[in-house]
Parts: sequence; C-alpha cells; structure tokens
Amino acid sequence: MLRYLLLRNPGHNRVYYLESEKLALAELTLTTKRFEQPCDEIQSVDIAGINYLSFTIGQVLSEAELKWLSNLSFIFALYQQSADTPESVLHPVELTPPGYVDPKISMLLKYSGKTNEIFTRMMVNVGLLSSDFGFDESFQMLDPVAGKGTTLFEGAVRGFDVTGIEMERKMVHDSTIFFKKFLEQDKYKHTLSKHAMYSSSTGSEAFIQLFEYAPDKQSFKLETSRKHLAIIGGNAIHSRRYFKVEKFHLIVGDLPYGIAHGNRGHKKHSSRTRSPAELMESCLPEFYKILKTGGSLVLAWNKFVWPREDFVALLTSTGFQVLDTDPYDQFTHRVDQSIKRDIVVARKA
Ligand SMILES: C[S@@+](CC[C@H](N)C(=O)[O-])C[C@H]1O[C@@H](n2cnc3c(N)ncnc32)[C@H](O)[C@@H]1O
Repeated sequence: MLRYLLLRNPGHNRVYYLESEKLALAELTLTTKRFEQPCDEIQSVDIAGINYLSFTIGQVLSEAELKWLSNLSFIFALYQQSADTPESVLHPVELTPPGYVDPKISMLLKYSGKTNEIFTRMMVNVGLLSSDFGFDESFQMLDPVAGKGTTLFEGAVRGFDVTGIEMERKMVHDSTIFFKKFLEQDKYKHTLSKHAMYSSSTGSEAFIQLFEYAPDKQSFKLETSRKHLAIIGGNAIHSRRYFKVEKFHLIVGDLPYGIAHGNRGHKKHSSRTRSPAELMESCLPEFYKILKTGGSLVLAWNKFVWPREDFVALLTSTGFQVLDTDPYDQFTHRVDQSIKRDIVVARKA
C-alpha cells in the first residue's frame, strides 16, 4: 500500500486558499474516480505543521493517473510515501502539468470582476471529470459569459479549442489584444481574423475574433495540432444562432454578479438585476442544444441572490441531469460579504 501526499498551491489569493480546502478535496475525489485502481482514505492531513491532501492506493501511479493529478487546479507538489519507510520520508514525484500555452497566461491580466484562475481551472476540471470525455485532442469548450477570458486561457493551456461570448465590447477588445500580444511574445505562429455575425430575425449584430495558433510553423500546418480561440462579441441568449447543435464537450462560466457587470436577459429594456435567473431562463435551452450528449455544464453564481434549489429546478426542467450528491455539494464558498459562490454541475445525458 502506498500513500500519496499533495501540497496545495498557496496561490495569489489568500482568502481563496483558506476557503478552498474542501473544494480541493472534492476535486481530488472526482479525479481519483478516473483512476484505473481504487483509492482510499482521501483526506486532509497535517505533517510537521504543513497541510497536505492525501490518499492511499495499491500500486505506483500509472502515467495516466499522474496526468490526471498533474491537472488538478490546486496542485503544487506531489510526494509518495511507502508503508516500509518512516512517516517523515517523502519522495518527491515529478508532475506532468499541461502546457499547450504557458499556464501563467491566466494570471497575467488583472482587472476588477476577474474570476480567480485557480477556481476557474477547478471548474474546467470538474466539468471534464463529470463528462463522458477524457483528454481529447479536439476538445471544444465554451464560456458563454467570458469576461476577459480566464476560462478561455485555461482551456488553451490544456490544448482545447475554446470559444467565449461576451456582451461588453471593451472586454472583447481587451482580451483579443492581450492574447495577440501573448502569442507574439511566446513566438506562436498565429492568425487573427474578424468576421461579422448577423442575426437576421432580431437584427442584432455580433462579431467573432478568431485566433488560429500553434507553437511553430510546422505544427501550424497540421490541422490536428493547430488550435482555435474565438471570442464572440454577442449575447449568450443567442448561443444557438452562433453554433451548430452538439458542438461543445464542455460549457463553463462564472455568471455575472450584477454589481460590477450586471446581467441582461432577453426582455427588452430588462434592468440589470443581481440574480442571473432571467439570463438562465433564456440561455439554458440554448446551452442544452449546443452541448454534446455526454458533455457537461459547470456554472458558478452567487447563492445569496438565487437559491440553489431554484437553479437546479430550472436545469432539470430544461432536460439537464444535475449532479447533486457528494462531492458535488462541497463547492460552496464565501468570496466576500455579499457573495457566497457555488457551482452547479449538469450533464446532457
Ligand atoms: C463574472 S463575469 C466573468 C468573468 C470572467 N470569468 C473573467 O475572469 O474574465 C460575467 C461576464 O458576463 C458578461 N455578460 C453578462 N450578460 C451576458 C450575456 N447575456 N451574454 C454575454 N455576456 C454576458 C458580463 O459582461 C461579464 O463580463
């Protein structure tokens, strides 16, 4: 029997770190369900005053299992402990983190209203782990409320093709400029094209900024190694008009909190309210259509302004299968006095 110990990344945001232990345990629990061998005693332990998450397992981790662990949002270092050595002996294990683009990308841009990048990575992981899919070369992920792109950049790190929708033009502009500079600085071969997208029935106008990129000229030539990052200046309520049915493996987003950004639903002159309920009533049927069967949806929102039961009821009535049992009930955490954030995870079964 072996024991593995995981050190959590102290990160940049101390408040999130302190609140995030149970989120990390929940993410680890979901991750170990993808292992080829069973894991036991998944828990938090203190050794010489330092906190670790740990689990026991029969054999040394396989390459695939190590890859799953290396993708954990919070992981900083991994150690292995054997039953026949003293408890104080920890053997470091080299992680194999993802890196189609430098993982630092989602930390560089700072702005008010940004979603914590470690939390965003966790949402992406929870979505992937809850879907029928694994690490797929041609994985498609959508953030329908993309802001300045934290989810898109997290997807790019994993080598996913990613698309965002954002209604504030300035945010689309800023994230486009940022990603272009990033690709130039890291010497990625890339192209950027802009196209108008008109919605004939409403007369509303949208546009798409599309990046195609690869680490070098050679891989850019190959369809399989060239990646896409697209940002649509548009409205999430029109998702179905922008994409074909069953396009996405994963939909991940941090819904507007109504304070810094507001959320606008389908009703004309609809006011900026604090609850994302109206926005979700318009969007969920669209999201259901564009999600692949076996795919999953992960959305974060403020529980103070919209009760979880109401969100779950709306998802269920739209046709989604909501994952609500342990550890899916462990993700609630306090962001500040006015925001108690939670995530809801649902599948298109
Ligand atoms: C909480 S922020 C997302 C922040 C993002 N995860 C980031 O780190 O940059 C929510 C975003 O949703 C956008 N939004 C609100 N309603 C929308 C809609 N109907 N369609 C598209 N975007 C919308 C807001 O402008 C805001 O940028």
